[in-house]
Amino acid sequence: MGEYVVDLKGLKGLAQNLAKQLKGNEVIALIGDLGTGKTTFTKFLVEALKPEEGTVVRSPTFAVLNEYKTKKGTVYHADLYRVKNFDFTDYVGSGILIVEWADLDPSLDADIVIRFQYEGDNLRRIKLEKKS
Ligand SMILES: Nc1ncnc2c1ncn2[C@@H]1O[C@H](COP(=O)(O)OP(=O)(O)O)[C@@H](O)[C@H]1O
Ligand SMILES: [Mg+2]
Repeated sequence: MGEYVVDLKGLKGLAQNLAKQLKGNEVIALIGDLGTGKTTFTKFLVEALKPEEGTVVRSPTFAVLNEYKTKKGTVYHADLYRVKNFDFTDYVGSGILIVEWADLDPSLDADIVIRFQYEGDNLRRIKLEKKS
């Protein structure tokens, strides 16, 4: 699906583009160091999926899993940074499941893998890959 070096605006564009391609049941793995934009990308993606009013996307590092209602169904947003062995069985296929630090759970079977790399203060290298 491509490789891009983007600023925040470019990242938003990538999220909007991906949002259009989603059916509503995908597992999306976000992989990259702290501060490379995984949560920011999730925020842009959820915004593009038209969430219900008042939806706030923030890092689920402490909650493990956040849930957002959107026009394309429920988005489950997880972060494995602290909890590495979360059981996703109930969530896979029942909405869009977005997992930050997905590489910490090798058993997670993602449909889309997105890798984030730091390229300076305001730029990130984003690699999007569709599995299957
Ligand atoms: N091009 C960019 N893409 C993503 N984030 C960026 C970019 N430029 C600056 N940033 C900033 O980097 C930070 C990324 O933080 P965050 O999304 O929480 O990262 P992560 O979830 O990967 O730890 C945010 O403060 C964001 O505003
Ligand atoms: Mg994060």
